[in-house]
Amino acid sequence: MASPFAVCKFHMRGKVAAVHSFHKLQAFFRRGIGSDAVAVHAETVRKLQCDEQNGHRALHILQEERRKQAQRSVLISCQVTTNEKKFLKYLSQHGDINKFFFYESYGLYAVVEFSSSESVASLLESSVIPSVSHECVVPFKSRLLWLRNHSLVDSGGQTSGLVCQAQTTTPINELIHRISTQESIEQQMMSLTEASQLTEENSRLRFLVCSLLEDIATAYFPECTITPFGSSVNGFGKLGCDLDMFLNLDNIKGRNMRLPKSGLSLEYQMKRANSERAVTQSILSVIGECVDQFGPGCVGVQKILNARCPLVRFSHQPSGFQCDLTANNRVAMKSTELLYLYGGLDARVRHLVFSVRCWARVHGITSSIPGAWITNFSLTMMVLFFLQRRNPPIIPTLDQLQQLAGPADKSIIDGNDCTFVSDFAKVQLQSNTETLEQLLSAFFEFYATFNFSRLSINIRKGKEQNKPEMSPLHILNPFETSLNISKNVNVTQLDRFVALCQESSWLSQQSRTLNPKKSTSGKNTAMPWGLAALLLPLQVDGIKGRKKKTRELASERIKSLLVSLKKKDSPTS
Ligand code: GTP
Ligand code: MG
Repeated sequence: MASPFAVCKFHMRGKVAAVHSFHKLQAFFRRGIGSDAVAVHAETVRKLQCDEQNGHRALHILQEERRKQAQRSVLISCQVTTNEKKFLKYLSQHGDINKFFFYESYGLYAVVEFSSSESVASLLESSVIPSVSHECVVPFKSRLLWLRNHSLVDSGGQTSGLVCQAQTTTPINELIHRISTQESIEQQMMSLTEASQLTEENSRLRFLVCSLLEDIATAYFPECTITPFGSSVNGFGKLGCDLDMFLNLDNIKGRNMRLPKSGLSLEYQMKRANSERAVTQSILSVIGECVDQFGPGCVGVQKILNARCPLVRFSHQPSGFQCDLTANNRVAMKSTELLYLYGGLDARVRHLVFSVRCWARVHGITSSIPGAWITNFSLTMMVLFFLQRRNPPIIPTLDQLQQLAGPADKSIIDGNDCTFVSDFAKVQLQSNTETLEQLLSAFFEFYATFNFSRLSINIRKGKEQNKPEMSPLHILNPFETSLNISKNVNVTQLDRFVALCQESSWLSQQSRTLNPKKSTSGKNTAMPWGLAALLLPLQVDGIKGRKKKTRELASERIKSLLVSLKKKDSPTS
């Protein structure tokens, strides 16, 4: 059956200027409301959607490009007094430099990408193994280096004023202040995405760390690859998110080759194990050991091999990333591709996900510690489902994406059909012109009143279904449909989520929350309003208690919260 969705996509990155003007236009149209203005607004949305469509590439193409860049790159620990010009001149002896940047993480580091991998080989050839007194080194050579040439360091011990790229997220109070100065809730949401999303440099660094790990793994399995998945590449990652890595052994040659029907042939003799899980566990165990013993900069290595999805967890100090290395995790790779596709179809998807994730984090709905909390992955599924339930829907269902798939998209993993279209150009969106402001408020309302006790969230069908089991929150795993991705969530956490949605839904409908506060001078003050007000601590009494509660004025509440926030921020506290 033909899908009602035809060609269009709306990816915002790199179009910030255009979108800013678009939102100014939107604000203007809302003020001077008229049917012509509404029509122009809809046309503007459609045009921007189509403009964006032409620049979006399939995830695997992007991954391959980044992987190649990473293979031509080195990571160098520098001194704060390093002279950039001399440093680059020194490195250029080995070949042309494509790109470089500096950042700080337990010291100053430089990522340098050469034009060719021969340059990296030449640079490594000229590097020396350190001689240390009282200690010995493991002579494992990697592309993580120290800059030791003192002639490159400026005299006088002064810092050289190198420009460092931020690799961490903006502190919440600063973020609240920043978005409070915006003129509309849409601009606030876009500004929040801008401030939180992974930067070009951070993305390069993530691929470089995978590439450094790949150098260790290929010592055993020369044809294996290590690629990032999850929020590092699905478009929803924020600075500081963990680095999920996938060790892929499927590319090893000879795996799918058939024995000839006649004549002689040779087969590899190989160790056998009882299950694929046992093979994964033994490979991760050995690689985890190598990372621990030989991997420069890798600390706190834990082998968590009995988890549902076995993994090796460690900190990569030079990048500051918390890393999770998994193997044989192809379904997660497909989920990553799916989220990437959804995020690229319409810019509102990413903005809403970033705002909701930030809101959930500040209110303790999500946490970096494993437990009964709702995960970011589940929360993203909830946003996607909500967007599928709009009228008309903003994004297609997974079943519709499956119908649009071509032969090259076919993917069956462990008996699960993970097929869906990868070509953005084949997906046509319906004409929904709701603003981000409307969507944010509607999201809270939708989940404030959702019948969680009876219904399941299902992005495959884009419709509520009866719950097949009695977990408090049921979100269907899109590719392993017998599984619930939010099985870990308990009643208390779900109740908190619902209560916060109710509170935020109410707050977002109050005119005083909706309008930017003006000071007497007419300029916007930093008084939190709109999205910023929703990021301040909220009073949640639980569902039953809330019904009895007499509400105080939103503005009064925000004022008192502001005072407490200011107190928290003050240097004396
Ligand atoms: P962050 O919180 O920013 O790290 O988001 P994330 O999307 O990277 O989540 P996480 O690190 O927990 O998981 C990495 C990826 O694994 C996700 O993006 C999904 O693709 C997949 N994943 C996580 N949890 C589940 C789950 O419960 N079921 C399935 N099928 N996949 C999951
Ligand atoms: Mg992650």
